[in-house]
Amino acid sequence: MPARVAPAGKERSGYPQLVSDSPESQPPPVRRAAIVGAGPSGFYAAEQLLGQGFEVDVIDRLPTPFGLVRAGVAPDHPKIKSVTRMYEKTASRPGFRYFGGVELGRDIDGAELLERYHAVVYAIGTSNDNRLGIPGEELAGSHPATDFVGWYNGHPDCCEHRFDLGHPRAVVIGNGNVALDVARMLVLSDEELAATDTADHALDALRAAAVEEVVILGRRGPAQAAFTNPELRELGELSRADVVVAPGEVELDPLSAAWLASDQADSTARRNLEILTDYSSRGPTGKPRRVVLRFLLSPVEILGDDQGRVRAVKVARNRIAADDKGRLSAVPTAEHDVIECGLVLRAVGYRGRPIDGVPFEARRGLIPNEGGRVLGDDGRHRPGEYAVGWIKRGPSGVIGTNKKDAADTVARILEDAEHDRLNQPRHPDGAEVEPWLRARVDGLVTWQGWQSIDRHERTAGEPAGRPRIKLVRMADMWMIAAPDGESTPAGSV
Ligand SMILES: Cc1cc2nc3c(=O)[nH]c(=O)nc-3n(C[C@H](O)[C@H](O)[C@H](O)COP(=O)(O)OP(=O)(O)OC[C@H]3O[C@@H](n4cnc5c(N)ncnc54)[C@H](O)[C@@H]3O)c2cc1C
Ligand SMILES: NC(=O)c1ccc[n+]([C@@H]2O[C@H](COP(=O)([O-])OP(=O)(O)OC[C@H]3O[C@@H](n4cnc5c(N)ncnc54)[C@H](OP(=O)(O)O)[C@@H]3O)[C@@H](O)[C@H]2O)c1
Repeated sequence: MPARVAPAGKERSGYPQLVSDSPESQPPPVRRAAIVGAGPSGFYAAEQLLGQGFEVDVIDRLPTPFGLVRAGVAPDHPKIKSVTRMYEKTASRPGFRYFGGVELGRDIDGAELLERYHAVVYAIGTSNDNRLGIPGEELAGSHPATDFVGWYNGHPDCCEHRFDLGHPRAVVIGNGNVALDVARMLVLSDEELAATDTADHALDALRAAAVEEVVILGRRGPAQAAFTNPELRELGELSRADVVVAPGEVELDPLSAAWLASDQADSTARRNLEILTDYSSRGPTGKPRRVVLRFLLSPVEILGDDQGRVRAVKVARNRIAADDKGRLSAVPTAEHDVIECGLVLRAVGYRGRPIDGVPFEARRGLIPNEGGRVLGDDGRHRPGEYAVGWIKRGPSGVIGTNKKDAADTVARILEDAEHDRLNQPRHPDGAEVEPWLRARVDGLVTWQGWQSIDRHERTAGEPAGRPRIKLVRMADMWMIAAPDGESTPAGSV
């Protein structure tokens, strides 16, 4: 029997309703899911739940959706950002609603969601940074890469941050792709930056930057770097910076050499070493900037000047040793070095932020779960609560990894639905959600509101040939998102 969308005005819940042409057929019970977090994992979970007949409300603390695709992926990687077209398709499906500007733990809590939904899916990512735990980490000029990334990508939490780019050398700690992103952003040419959606405040500061050399420090060796091959290769193709790897840096210790020759090594590590070896054979080509890769060095202290500003990083030279599980780890030697610099970016991984009322495992920095089913303190599944993405499995993996991850969690939800183990909400009427949220937050942003922001940003970028010029303050977003006549938060515009 064909289904059709109910005519406007006949919608009961605020969703476009699917209705049957046959008066005698009973519609299946509508199940409703709240997905908290509009990043990749939230959107993949939404797509899959919609496909299974759920009505889905996606809730995000920001007015703008797409999580780290908007606020993490480097601005000079526009092709990667185009994955949002898939998410827009999801958002256009009947049964989908978006509520931006609502923060779980501040504006609403998990128990309130469970009063309204059969399933609550936490897709909140891992927005805190890992700490080094060394003296000087808090000095002015030492920043988590999370803040720098948020700053150049126009995340509203970071738009007032300031980074001193006036010193000729910056040090980036960590050997993952985030370290490569931030190093690259520091040395892109004006022309390369001009074609991106880098936030305007960062564009101005990066154009004026005096940074000539970025040193990337790995605590383990080149064979253990967490870079992926295309990202490492891209470093050797920068228009304004040479990549520098001293030949001694790619000479492997016996344990790493044996590991790389064994079945345990993956092709990414082997290829990384080939790329780094190629870099080590290159001489300088006279480009005005340099990205220098150094290995087997751990920061032990960040040194400050009289004004409490970063002046150098003290590092210990490491050697590779096998731990009791056979994992190759870095062990410090007595040898030390001091690298002068004016900026330190700590790109040593992300971790989840605890939220009141939601279980949290502090050691791993994520929501404890079994295959996506959230576990309480007693180790038992909390009915109706699920997790997806980085907050479920930890901060690793590319955008696509979250699709399979979401499928695994959705499979558990469907299994629980089949066995009547979903949550039974006291107020299951979807029509009540929007008024409830509007009573809680000023400036609720719906999908239409986001589309207004999106149009505004794209239109602003067009004359300069940029994908968009981002709005970076909540107040400006609210103003553009609000339909004519609708109020925005008091004092915000
Ligand atoms: C700097 C950086 C660059 C990256 N670049 C790439 C790349 O080029 N290519 C690639 O494939 N992968 C890249 N990744 C990895 C990719 O971004 C992640 O795999 C993916 O974003 C994880 O998705 P997620 O949905 O779990 O989390 P997120 O993308 O972090 O989304 C979480 C969402 O939850 C919202 N939220 C958080 N707390 C709350 C709350 N309390 N209430 C309501 N909403 C909340 C946030 O606002 C956010 O929208 C990058 C990661 C980083 C850190
Ligand atoms: N273009 C892209 O596709 C792209 C871009 C950005 C991010 N991402 C993905 O996003 C995920 C997160 O990236 P990430 O770079 O944040 O994390 P990551 O890949 O886990 O790398 C973290 C790095 O920090 C190092 N580190 C951790 N603690 C340290 C310490 N105390 N001292 C010194 N170094 C330390 C780690 O070294 P050890 O290995 O020794 O622990 C590792 O080199 C990854 O899966 C990444 O691929 C993808």
